[in-house]
Amino acid sequence: MDSNQWKLASLQYLEHLSKLGIRNLPKPHANLQEILVDWIAPASQTPAGGVSAKEAQQAQVAVTPRTASPLKPPTSPTVLQTQVPTAPKKPLGPPVESPWSTPAKNPEERTAALAELKLKVEGCKECHELACNRRQTVFGVGPVATRFVMVGEAPGAEEDRLGEPFVGPAGQLLDKILVATGIPRDQVYILNTVKCRPPNNRVPSEVELENCSPFLEAQLEILQPYYIICWGATAVRAILGTSEPVGRLRGRFHWYKKAKVVVTYHPSYLLRAPEAKKLTWEDMKMLMRELGTLKT
Ligand code: URA
Repeated sequence: MDSNQWKLASLQYLEHLSKLGIRNLPKPHANLQEILVDWIAPASQTPAGGVSAKEAQQAQVAVTPRTASPLKPPTSPTVLQTQVPTAPKKPLGPPVESPWSTPAKNPEERTAALAELKLKVEGCKECHELACNRRQTVFGVGPVATRFVMVGEAPGAEEDRLGEPFVGPAGQLLDKILVATGIPRDQVYILNTVKCRPPNNRVPSEVELENCSPFLEAQLEILQPYYIICWGATAVRAILGTSEPVGRLRGRFHWYKKAKVVVTYHPSYLLRAPEAKKLTWEDMKMLMRELGTLKT
């Protein structure tokens, strides 16, 4: 393609995104330095894991990216390597991109389909123990015309109380990671593998994951994101269908239908093991590189 054909293709693509209601690109946060203070712990406190706030700030492009690349849906089945491989890199889960099962919906259709699905989730009693112990189901939250879906494990106490995912301590860390990555939370649809809080915040069982998977799959089919970020092993289990540890899967892209999947550590794990923040930051930079928003 010559440069005029590229320009035309970019304009057509912008128009297509605009029809889907997607207008905003990730931008660096104005108060990035302030917000990063505790996500990126000072190196003196976490010698093994500290990523300096300056580094995070410098990593983001200072202006809205100008080329067409940040807007492009994921196209190539290429695997981007960001880390020195420490484990065999055999493809796991869906090895290549495959089509969504239904045509893309417009924002109004998505809103209606999600509302209908939410009612079904609210009425679900498939997992007896979870249904008896929940205060409410936690469906998920975010814009319907989104490029990004983030998948957590399960609602915790705060999420069960408020009915929204990632509003407790893990959510506060997630917010900081998003700020560092330059992806505003309000541009991301956030959901969990299961929609009810498991008692004592235990990991959802295989049966519970299985029972809830039609809801998760339906949400993804309605939203048809370009990128899915799996936070932790349970999200990986639900999205990629593998029990392979996060440490073996992170650092490269996987596929869920037509969405590129990023695998990284769960924020709750990062709260317990701050030395792993550096690896999650590498994963976020891999995503930023893909989006064209990484400066270096
Ligand atoms: N809160 C959520 O909503 N999901 C998690 O996985 C953890 C905390």
